[in-house]
Amino acid sequence: MTAMFVTSTGTDIGKTFVARGMIRQLRSRGRAVEALKPIVTGFDPHTAHVSDTGRLLSALGRALTPKEIAEISPYRLHQPLSPDLAARLEGTSIDFKALNAFCRNAISRHKDALIIEGIGGIMVPLDERHTVLDWMIEIDLPVILVAGSYVGTLSHTLSALDVLDRNELKVAAVVVSETPDSAATLVDTADTIRRFAKNIEVFALPRLPGATLDHPVMAAIADVM
Ligand SMILES: Nc1ncnc2c1ncn2[C@@H]1O[C@H](COP(=O)(O)OP(=O)(O)O)[C@@H](O)[C@H]1O
Ligand SMILES: [Mg+2]
Repeated sequence: MTAMFVTSTGTDIGKTFVARGMIRQLRSRGRAVEALKPIVTGFDPHTAHVSDTGRLLSALGRALTPKEIAEISPYRLHQPLSPDLAARLEGTSIDFKALNAFCRNAISRHKDALIIEGIGGIMVPLDERHTVLDWMIEIDLPVILVAGSYVGTLSHTLSALDVLDRNELKVAAVVVSETPDSAATLVDTADTIRRFAKNIEVFALPRLPGATLDHPVMAAIADVM
């Protein structure tokens, strides 16, 4: 039985991509996989298939119905903004206690492999007082940190690792998901992170073409579950 929280150094880095790849790998090995995307922003029910929720449901082999969507993503916000801001503009708020209760319930019930995708980077605000970091501390799962290979990622990634470490969160792995057209190579970026992040497994995931999710590195990442 394993549960992991997938977070990253920012938005659009590759959390959903990595989660989908892991789900696919684990399912092909006969594992019973569950995934949650408790908070989703920029969500439009008419284009739900391209939302994180829709992509995760598809990877899980589950139908894209309102019931399934609500089951894995109870907090859905329309505005493509940080959760606190989107919620405020939509006249609602994310109930931090209920969010944690939702996750704890899923963690206590899960039978095999559970992947929870966070939102944005490790410290994006969820409400007036809490960030994703507070959420991760509350549910206390090992973290998979997804980073990019763009120039600038080293400081973002090492800062994130430092914050996770200071808060006694276990980092199961760092996945460097290749940023297209970066002046820095994927290999150099991953090597540098490895040099500073001693004792943490660092995976270098190349940019995969088209709809491909299968790759030996993806298989190795799924092994952490
Ligand atoms: N290694 C990769 N190979 C191919 N496409 C990738 C890779 N990593 C991320 N992407 C693509 O980049 C975009 C942003 O990734 P996504 O997983 O949605 O980020 P996040 O969940 O962190 O916001 C998506 O279109 C995703 O498919
Ligand atoms: Mg995502």
